[in-house]
Amino acid sequence: MIYTEKDKQYKRYTVTSALPYANGPVHIGHLAGVYVPADVYVRYLRAQGEDVMFIGGSDEHGVPITIKARREGVTPQDIVDRYHKIIKDSFQELGISFDIYSRTSSKEHHETAAAYFKKLYDEGKFVEKVSQQYYDEEAGQFLADRYITGTCPHCGNEHAYGDQCEACGTSLNATDLINPKSALSGSKPVLRETKHWFLPLDQDEPWLREWILESHKGDWKTNVYGQCKSWIDAGLQPRAVTRDLDWGVKVPIEGTDGKVLYVWFDAPIGYISFTKQLKGDDWEKWWKDHETKLVHFIGKDNIVFHCIIFPSMLHADGSYILPANVPANEFLNLEGDKISTSRNWAVWLHDYLVDFPGKQDVLRYTLCSNAPETKDNDFTWKDFQLKNNSELVAILGNFVNRTLVLTHKFYGGKVPSFDASHCLPMDEEVVKELATFPERIGRSIETYRFREALAEMMNLARLGNKYLTDTEPWKMVKADPGRTAVVMNLSLQICANLAILCAPFLPFTADKMHRIMNLPAMGWRDAGRADLLRGGHEIAQPELLFEQISDEAIQAQVDKLQATKEQNALNTWQPAEVKPAVTIDDFGKMDIRVATILECCKVPKADKLLQFKLDDGTGTPRTIVSGIAKYYTDPAALVGRQVCFIANFPPRKLKGVESQGMILSAEDKDGRLVLLTPSDVVTPGCQVG
Ligand code: MF3
Ligand code: ZN
Repeated sequence: MIYTEKDKQYKRYTVTSALPYANGPVHIGHLAGVYVPADVYVRYLRAQGEDVMFIGGSDEHGVPITIKARREGVTPQDIVDRYHKIIKDSFQELGISFDIYSRTSSKEHHETAAAYFKKLYDEGKFVEKVSQQYYDEEAGQFLADRYITGTCPHCGNEHAYGDQCEACGTSLNATDLINPKSALSGSKPVLRETKHWFLPLDQDEPWLREWILESHKGDWKTNVYGQCKSWIDAGLQPRAVTRDLDWGVKVPIEGTDGKVLYVWFDAPIGYISFTKQLKGDDWEKWWKDHETKLVHFIGKDNIVFHCIIFPSMLHADGSYILPANVPANEFLNLEGDKISTSRNWAVWLHDYLVDFPGKQDVLRYTLCSNAPETKDNDFTWKDFQLKNNSELVAILGNFVNRTLVLTHKFYGGKVPSFDASHCLPMDEEVVKELATFPERIGRSIETYRFREALAEMMNLARLGNKYLTDTEPWKMVKADPGRTAVVMNLSLQICANLAILCAPFLPFTADKMHRIMNLPAMGWRDAGRADLLRGGHEIAQPELLFEQISDEAIQAQVDKLQATKEQNALNTWQPAEVKPAVTIDDFGKMDIRVATILECCKVPKADKLLQFKLDDGTGTPRTIVSGIAKYYTDPAALVGRQVCFIANFPPRKLKGVESQGMILSAEDKDGRLVLLTPSDVVTPGCQVG
């Protein structure tokens, strides 16, 4: 049985996962927040025999894409072609089992999105408004959404965008920003009149309030419900659904050149257009039949779009169902820091698949067990290693391996028959407990508690391990073959159950278990039984399901992140604060002069120091020791160069050499010291000032 919300029975499931922007690859934050839970959900439903459609695809419009294209000097189409392929291939390799993974730049999508808009337009569902929008006079274009940045009026973040402040999550209008700046030219934009079409969300408030706040109280997650409530309570405003841009779905009205649909209007229609691509003429029941359950998997930054704006678009059309649930997750951080594409602070899926070949399930497991379901969570490589070594290897892998090895050892790879007359109460207990797992795991999945579901699945492996450890069949096989057969038969039944129950989470492992144990295709309803394998059934040679991940492999990943951190520090370098004021007299106390290098060599046993012999014009060479050996590895090559030095520092000893002053250098942003040399040759001993 399926325990769906409010116990309503459905005939089919339309499951969508947020369409990732095709302006970068997919990272672990996307996976933990959206794609892994969505995939667990649909794999489970399919195992239940349900009719499921799982929709995915790339979101290929929007300003971040055109900004990236402009920066790289390529077309937006080049950008989306590049990332669509990387994203699609890496999802497939991770086993995200979309029924279709399409893209919003496709012709079919443009047609569907334009027709959707046209219908609402013809029916007078939009409000037409001429308003003032920012315009960049230098670039000669309107500045929609992310083309404009400025200070957030709510939290003071100076890098808020024209459509949203990422620091406080508030959705903004460009005209709300304080100190607006064009992202194209950096100039101060001017206001110009332009006409746009608005979705009158203000008029939707009554039914949205009733639908979300009344009828979905208790079944939608609290984070989702809470965000919706604060939006609705704050009062909904009409929302522009067109933009003055040239990349996107053209507005299907005469005389609107240079206008496209707002990316958040066209992208969710992608769920519908992809359904048409997949199902052809049979598409409508997936969107219009009230016995279809529509579920949107998204991250928390998408809540308002999927709970308010898209439903209001569906409602405006009138023939569509509304989502039954929108299980949005919070964010996953990486090693304590917010994941960021622009700072390259992420674990990229396509990189992971190269660095850890064949270990898709390890990532799926780690991300699911650590999914940010109720609060932001942290991914660390240490934890990844721990989850692999002490859970997958030590619990699941160990139990299955012990059982299969013993089966070969005792019975030549054939399942021993189960003879109830050799059963003890503890065996019956195990049979009873086994029967409860499918429902426990299923209920958790159906209520979107994937971490809990995964933990339950592992509890079955724990039960198996404990059973073997308590009964010690290797000790009684000679003395009590009857009871040993019971224990081994039951352990094998648990293995077969695990093959079914782990499949939504660990599909590659499930396939391997099916192969090793020669299992027929089975569904969720077969699980829970202790007679899945008959006596005499033959299993193949055991193979390890998981292997240890070494400290070295983990260190390599930690080092990679450390290098990113250092690179970011360079990128954010800024000149130091100016020191407190001094007078010309203060400066006059410094005696800075020019000298010519006569000799230069390394100071023995001091890897940082160079020893200079300088012609300072006095006729007596001056010795100065300077800590720049790291940056000038060929000291002899410096001979003949001129340098500036401070002549009136008291002498001091460095590694046994008396240094008579200090040579001046500039410190670059990476810490490198560079000697200061006059731009023309001057007389040694002349003063600097
Ligand atoms: N591209 C959006 C994001 O990454 C998600 C779009 S979801 C859709 O935040 F519904 F619009 F398709
Ligand atoms: Zn803000």
